Amino acid sequence: MSHHKLTAAEPAGGAKPRVAVLFGGRSSEHAVSCVTAAGVLGAINKDKYEVIPIGIAKTGQWVLAADDTAQWSLSGTSLPEVVPSQQTVTLAQIGGEHQLIVAAPNEVPQELGAVDVVFPLLHGPFGEDGTIQGLLELSDTRYVGAGVLASAVGMDKHYMKVVFAAAGLQVGPYIAVTDRQWQNDAESVRKQVDRLGFPVFVKPARAGSSMGISKVDSLDGLDAAIEEARRHDLKLVIEAGIVGREIECAVLEGRGADAPRTSMPGEISVAGGTHEFYDFTAKYVEDDAAALSCPADLPEEAITRVRELAAAAFDAVGAEGLSRVDFFYTPDGQLIINEINTMPGFTPKSMYPQMWAASGLDYADLIDELIHLALNRKTGLR
Ligand SMILES: Nc1ncnc2c1ncn2[C@@H]1O[C@H](COP(=O)(O)OP(=O)(O)O)[C@@H](O)[C@H]1O
Ligand SMILES: [Mg+2]
Repeated sequence: MSHHKLTAAEPAGGAKPRVAVLFGGRSSEHAVSCVTAAGVLGAINKDKYEVIPIGIAKTGQWVLAADDTAQWSLSGTSLPEVVPSQQTVTLAQIGGEHQLIVAAPNEVPQELGAVDVVFPLLHGPFGEDGTIQGLLELSDTRYVGAGVLASAVGMDKHYMKVVFAAAGLQVGPYIAVTDRQWQNDAESVRKQVDRLGFPVFVKPARAGSSMGISKVDSLDGLDAAIEEARRHDLKLVIEAGIVGREIECAVLEGRGADAPRTSMPGEISVAGGTHEFYDFTAKYVEDDAAALSCPADLPEEAITRVRELAAAAFDAVGAEGLSRVDFFYTPDGQLIINEINTMPGFTPKSMYPQMWAASGLDYADLIDELIHLALNRKTGLR
C-alpha cells in the first residue's frame, strides 16, 4: 500500500501521483461518462501516474472498476454501465491523508491507499453540478475541473444565463419555468412562450447531452414538450430558437496567475433531414449525423471574438480547469452564448479534445495538463 503525503505536483519520494478516475454516475449521461473513461484510461500516462478507476453505479454506489478500455467503450448498440457490487468504495480523511476505503458487508473495511487527485469524468446532475465537488472539498481531496459554485452554475441553464448576462455576454431570449409556475398557472407559461415566438426549445434546466430537449413549432406541441422535459427536471428553460451556426471553443485554465487559454473554435454541423438539431442520437448514436470541424471556417475577426467571449464566460462563472463554451453565430455576425459545460464530452473524439488537438495540444498532454493544474490547486472556498 502506498503511503505518501499530499504535496503539490510531485509527491515525496518520487512516487507517482495517484489519480482516482471517477466515472459513470447517477445522471442520464451515465453511459457517456463510461465512454469518456475508456478514452482517459487508454490515454493517461501510466509511467507518470498511478491510476485507480472508480465507477459510480446508477444507484450512486462507488465500486472499484476495471482498468479496461474495451469494457467502457461503446460497442454496437449496447451501452456501457457500472453495476453495483457488494463492495463499496468511499473516500475519507484518515491520518491527514485522503484515503480510499473499500467496505463490504461483514468485513473489516480496508484502506486502498492515499489519493492525490480525483479526475471526475462525470456529466450531468450528481457529477457536473457541484455535488461531487462538494464531497471532494469535504474530504479535502484535490480534483480536476471547476469547483462547487462554478459547477452548479454551469449545470443550471437558467442561472448560467443570469450570470452571463450580468457579465455582458449576449444570451438569447428565454424564460425559466419552475414546477410551481407550471402547476399553478400553466396558461401564463403558455402566454409567455407565445410571446417568445416559435420555434422554441424546451429544456430541462439541469440535464445534458440534449436529454429531454424538444424543438416546438407551435403552441400545440408545447405541453407535451414541457412534460417530456419535466421527466428530467421540474425546472425548465424555454428559449426562442436561434438561427445560426453552432460554434464552440475549448477553454483551459492558465497556469499560476495566467489568463485562461482558448483553443481554435470548432463547428458542429448537424445533418439536416433526420435531425432538426444536435440531439442525443446525433451526438452519440449515429456516427455521421453530426460533423465536428475544427478549426471552424470563420473570419479572423470572429475567431478572435469567439475566443475572447469563451474566456469571459469561463471567468464569469468562475470555472477552473476546463470548460467548453458554445455559441450560435448568427448570419449577421452576432455571437450568442448557448452554454458552458464545465465537464464537456471528453472522449478522444469529443469536441473539447478535438479542438485542443487542432490547436496543438493532444489528448494525452491535455489529460496531463489538467491533472497538473488540479495537483497545484488547493481545496477550499470553491
Ligand atoms: N435556442 C436555441 N436555438 C436553436 N437551437 C438550439 C437552441 N437551444 C438548443 N438548440 C439545439 O439543441 C442542442 C442542445 O441544446 P443545449 O442547450 O446545448 O443542451 P445540452 O446541454 O443538452 O447540450 C444544441 O446543440 C442546438 O443544436
Ligand atoms: Mg449543448
